[in-house]
Amino acid sequence: MHPLSEPFVFRRTGLEVKNRCVLAAMTNKQSQEDGVLSQDEIAWLKARSSGGFGIVTTAAAHVQEDGKGWNGEMGVWSDEHLPGLTQLAQELRQDGSVGLVQLFHGGMRAPESLTGKQPVSASINALGVGLGESRAMEEQEILDTVQAFGKAAQRCEAAGFHGVELHGAHGYLIAQFLGKGTNRRDDRWGGDGARRQAFLSAIVEAVRQRTSPTFLVGIRLSPELSSCGIELEDALETLDLCLELELDFIHVSCWDFTKQASHGGIEQPYTAWFSKRVNGKLPLISTGGVWNAEEANMLCEQGADLVGVARAGIAHPDWPTYLEDGENTPKRPPFSADELEKAALSPVFVEYMRRWDGFVEP
Ligand SMILES: Cc1cc2nc3c(=O)[nH]c(=O)nc-3n(C[C@H](O)[C@H](O)[C@H](O)COP(=O)(O)O)c2cc1C
Repeated sequence: MHPLSEPFVFRRTGLEVKNRCVLAAMTNKQSQEDGVLSQDEIAWLKARSSGGFGIVTTAAAHVQEDGKGWNGEMGVWSDEHLPGLTQLAQELRQDGSVGLVQLFHGGMRAPESLTGKQPVSASINALGVGLGESRAMEEQEILDTVQAFGKAAQRCEAAGFHGVELHGAHGYLIAQFLGKGTNRRDDRWGGDGARRQAFLSAIVEAVRQRTSPTFLVGIRLSPELSSCGIELEDALETLDLCLELELDFIHVSCWDFTKQASHGGIEQPYTAWFSKRVNGKLPLISTGGVWNAEEANMLCEQGADLVGVARAGIAHPDWPTYLEDGENTPKRPPFSADELEKAALSPVFVEYMRRWDGFVEP
């Protein structure tokens, strides 16, 4: 049996996952404009739970209406979202998968063209050519957003999900608070690494207060993020602080798991950096560039306890089954629109995947 096919138990809650294969969060533009899940979005995730993924993570879902980053994004900011969320959670449970909702707020990357409001962030930050700048959030707004994360998690638990992944990676609001480039506040939410993490800590606390002790709460982090001024050293400091929080897992988003990163004269892949620092205190999920069983093995050797895949899981809803048959390697891109529709992607999602270089046949 491939090591990733073996069950995994989350220590704090005792929850057992049937295997160590994680479908990483993927935006797919299939939700309705008010954030309500569409049947297409439910079908795409259901095909991955029935395809054998131990953990299925939803797309990034905004916790406040104003935190919306793009069209067709899943929402968790209102009880209006509950029926769709409940249906999805039930479908995933029926297949014995653990369902996680990825909670996020776009911050300065929630464009005015979508929300009708000037984007907010930790500080005033330039939004890009011709797009103006973000506004620094006021104290009460920060507290409201923290509570919105808590309420969204509560909604996810009520819907039947096993847990949530807080999206602290890729430059959205949590990362904007973590990064010294995007957070130049001089109040309790900014300053040194610990103060820049106060927003994340408050979110974890709010989520914990509003959910039961058995609910899984994890954090996804980028190991480096120049757009927010996060260097590897900063990410490792954040990681140390996360190990003090009541979390169930850390998810490092590597994009390329083979990439070597240098710090203090040592060069090793991101996952090795994170795994050595986590030192067994929490489970580590790692994602980025894995396509087949051999690459998944390499990521485990770097120290990942669970392996996430995104693009391979788009093309292959039953990706975990390929681990058992190492000879049978999953086909790589490009894929025809027809192949992707057979893999339970709606035409909207297929169209979105055309933006990912070389994924869909021209
Ligand atoms: C279509 C698509 C949408 C994505 N959306 C999200 C998202 O909503 N949240 C997130 O944290 N990462 C998102 N990602 C990043 C993936 O979770 C993953 O980290 C990345 O694609 C690298 O993994 P891979 O090489 O297995 O694709 C997205 C990736 C793709 C391809």
